Amino acid sequence: MTNVAIIGTQWGDEGKGKVVDLLSEKADYIVRFQGGNNAGHTLVIGDQSYALHTVPSGVLRPGKISVIASGVVVDPEDLIAEIKGLTERGVDINPSNLKISEKAHMIMPYHRLLDAARENSVNGRKIGTTGRGIGPAYEDKAARTGLRLGDLRSEELLATRIDLAIREKNCLFQELYGVPTLKADDLWKRALSLRPFILPFLTNTARIVQEAHAKGQKILFEGAQGVQLDVDHGTYPFVTSSNPTTGAVAMGAGLAPKCLENVLGLVKAYTSRVGEGPFPTELIGATGDWIRDSGHEFGTTTGRPRRCGWLDAVVVKAAVDLCGVDHLAITKLDVLSGLEELKVASHYELDGERIDFVPADSADLARCQPVYATAPGFTGDITKAKKLEDLPKGAREYLDLMEKLIGVPAALVSVGPERDETIILKSYF
Ligand code: IMP
Repeated sequence: MTNVAIIGTQWGDEGKGKVVDLLSEKADYIVRFQGGNNAGHTLVIGDQSYALHTVPSGVLRPGKISVIASGVVVDPEDLIAEIKGLTERGVDINPSNLKISEKAHMIMPYHRLLDAARENSVNGRKIGTTGRGIGPAYEDKAARTGLRLGDLRSEELLATRIDLAIREKNCLFQELYGVPTLKADDLWKRALSLRPFILPFLTNTARIVQEAHAKGQKILFEGAQGVQLDVDHGTYPFVTSSNPTTGAVAMGAGLAPKCLENVLGLVKAYTSRVGEGPFPTELIGATGDWIRDSGHEFGTTTGRPRRCGWLDAVVVKAAVDLCGVDHLAITKLDVLSGLEELKVASHYELDGERIDFVPADSADLARCQPVYATAPGFTGDITKAKKLEDLPKGAREYLDLMEKLIGVPAALVSVGPERDETIILKSYF
């Protein structure tokens, strides 16, 4: 096996950072292929905690090559701050271990401003975005008015494209949103100042990934967000602007779909969601608050409290089918220790009818009533469990129920935030 894609099966925040870090031990390349700094991958290594946003989790393992591929949108100012912050903490990041696509689109200051203006607008529909300018950057990419990192190489090209973009954006800022406009010249100078830091990292990352694959090197594709946030297949319009699904691995990284070998679906032992939108198994009240506190469910990127609820097998099964998930990586099982009873939604009822799929219309999903299967809870510290037999009976029953309702076996179960707090059932690479 030479490659594995890690895909979030829920609404993001499934604990991908830790799993990517674990698997990256044996990988040669770790590739981010979609999303941007809306992602927040938390890794705990010894007494140190790292929150990564654009930089692939592989940077924390010496000797690995990390790739930010062309499907990612990059906020260069934020990326520079992230790299500098990690460097100050002793993480070695340089152009030989971090490769950034010259084709990746840039998140510009006007994208962040537009994201915030829309979210704050009284007329608009609130999505609860991370406010990082992700949506507006992907919009400009599709509209062919975006700036790519490679454009930083040419002063003239930069000036022309910024001028073109800012005329349109300033109209929106002034006429529609009533927020201060930006000056093209200021943006141009700001962009030029990024060149000494960014340019040495830029390269043709698709070629690097293709060559690595051809040589049989081990590649880990690090997905961000989750399937229900997919702009095509998620709970639209309460979604992100990229495709956190397996299909996007090929597109975003520049590797033919037939080269993808293994898909690992990340599933948290319960569900969380940050931002607006329907969430059938949401627990409003004491149990939801308990899970949030026990699981430290506060956004890595925005600090927002996450909405929490029971596991939803309908949602996870949708991801399994859409993404060709081979195995599950079950995370944060330890968080549920102490609850008397555990529930998993096996299907929904919508207007008195049984359904076992996620309806296309968010308003329909909001009306779905989850129907639950239950398992007895478990207690005690499970973080030192190294094999399934080390777990209390209730925890094993819950895992069995998850696998049965989702229909895919687990490859690993995470029982704590540390690297070694993991039960490995199947080895990769
Ligand atoms: P955006 O990606 O910032 O445009 O936000 C769109 C939606 O996706 C909002 O509901 C965000 O809360 C959600 N979202 C974006 N990135 C993540 C993530 O990494 N984890 C969880 N939710 C996310």
